[in-house]
Parts: sequence; C-alpha cells; structure tokens
Amino acid sequence: MRLDGATCLVTGANRGIGRALAAELAKRPVRLLAGVRSLDRWEPLEVAGSRVREVVPVRLDLSSREALDGCFAELGDELDAIDVLVNNAGQMTGGLLEEQRMDEIEAMVQVNLLAAIQLTQRVLPGMVARGRGTIVNNASISGYAYFPSASTYAASKAGIVAFTESLQRELRGTGVRTLQLVTPGVESDMLDATTELYSRHLDTSGWETVPAAEWARRAVEAIEQDKRVLGPGGKTALAKLASRGPAQLLDAIAGRGFSRTPRR
Ligand SMILES: NC(=O)c1ccc[n+]([C@@H]2O[C@H](COP(=O)([O-])OP(=O)(O)OC[C@H]3O[C@@H](n4cnc5c(N)ncnc54)[C@H](OP(=O)(O)O)[C@@H]3O)[C@@H](O)[C@H]2O)c1
Repeated sequence: MRLDGATCLVTGANRGIGRALAAELAKRPVRLLAGVRSLDRWEPLEVAGSRVREVVPVRLDLSSREALDGCFAELGDELDAIDVLVNNAGQMTGGLLEEQRMDEIEAMVQVNLLAAIQLTQRVLPGMVARGRGTIVNNASISGYAYFPSASTYAASKAGIVAFTESLQRELRGTGVRTLQLVTPGVESDMLDATTELYSRHLDTSGWETVPAAEWARRAVEAIEQDKRVLGPGGKTALAKLASRGPAQLLDAIAGRGFSRTPRR
C-alpha cells in the first residue's frame, strides 16, 4: 500500500513496539492516530527525518468491550477514515498454568484477541467502502510454536493468527488486506517481564532478540510491500518451521530447557 496521505491507527502507541511502529510510520507523510489507554500516557514523538502530516493521540482503552465502545463514541467518524489499523497493544502472562492468575489471563485475552477483533470490525466497513486498507495484527512466534510456560499467551496469539488468516480469505477482492506480524523476541518491557517469568521453568538463555526500531522498520516496509506475513529470522524462524512439522520436533526442543520444578 502507498502510505502517502494514509490515515494510520496504532494501538499501544505510547511504548514498546507500538511506539517504534508509530515512529517508523511518522517517517512517511501519513496522518497518525496514536492509540493510548489514557491520554496522559502519551508523550509527543520526536522522530529524526519526520515527514508526518499530523500526529493525534486518541484514547483507546481496550480493557473491555464497554470501554472500547466508549472510545468509539468519542472518536466518531474518525474511525471510518482509517487506511491502516495496527492492532499492536498486548499483554502477557505465563508460567505453569496453575500459577497464573485468572484475572490476568482474562485481561490478556481481552486485549490480545477480543479488542483486536472489535476494533477491526469497527474500521472494516470504511475500508471496504473505499476499496483500500490494511489490517496489521501483531501476533507472535507464540502463535505458532507452543512452548511450556506460555499456554495462555500462546492461546491468545494462536487466536489472532487464525483470525487474521480467515479474514484475509474473507476479504479477497475487496482491496482490503491483512498483514500478520509473527513477532520474535523484541526488546521491550514485555520481553523483560516474559524472560523473568518464563525463566522460572524454562531456559531462556538462548533467546534471540531484535531492537524494537528494527522490527518496526521491517513491519512498515511489509505494509508498503503488501505482504501477508512478516516472519522472524534466525532461530525463531526455525521454531516457526518446526511448528508446522511433526509435534515431536517441538517436544524435543521445548523438553530440553523445561522443568516443572522451579529452575531457581
Ligand atoms: N516484545 C516481544 O518480545 C513480543 C514478542 C511477540 C509479540 N509481541 C506482541 O507485540 C505487541 C506489543 O508488545 P510490546 O513488547 O511492545 O509490549 P509492552 O512494551 O508491554 O507494551 C504494551 C502496550 O500495550 C498497551 N496495552 C496493554 N493493555 C492495554 C489496554 N487494556 N488498553 C490499551 N492499551 C493497552 C500498553 O499500554 P500501557 O502503557 O497503558 O500499559 C502498551 O502500550 C503485543 O501484542 C505483544 O504480545 C511482543
């Protein structure tokens, strides 16, 4: 998609990958709606070589269907003009299933899956009417390779993978596309928290990571190139490949570094 003059909305734009995506989009002549849980969490973007036409912070609280409906009411027609929707905001919880808190699991599934579906459903009619649009969903390698300690997070991300692929086929011929980001380990608050949590039972020492700005650059180029999937590189790409093979492959990889008894 040509991004010149496009209106782009990124959720979770105040930090992490979402902020890096916002900064990368701001290098193009776009109108950028920066979605934040509450407006006081937004700090203006300072981007070297910025060509952005306008950056508008918008309140998008994804915590419940009602909260999001309230934000839709505030935004009104603005949502009908979106050309690129990036469902980026997310939460993570992990560890053995019986150690995880049910309220945290519920909040995670709400943000990672249900809110992305609700937001997509809201912006899609405008895109279809104009015959142009891209829905970008931030999935994860966890949506493919299901490692122990990640059962509930993986379930939410496998859900977004299925949602994106099904929608992509449903939208054929409309001019609207989907792009699935099979995001690897990306340096952010979430990665720090994940490493800390998962390493109680799983050896995370070999995890490869990518700077958020680098992943964002690749993601925005993938939008411009009309890609359907942006995959990871290195060992993470091998994990994705293994996930499509016999289950014994991932059993062997995961089994090497996992212990139900805490490792430390
Ligand atoms: N980092 C990785 O290694 C990695 C790997 C694979 C996939 N991903 C995915 O990439 C996406 C971004 O992750 P990240 O690493 O940038 O995480 P992060 O640093 O923890 O940032 C998460 C973002 O989501 C927002 N958010 C969370 N709950 C929200 C809610 N209820 N309403 C509105 N916004 C909410 C946060 O807003 P607040 O600041 O208000 O909390 C924040 O902007 C997520 O979908 C994640 O699952 C990340």
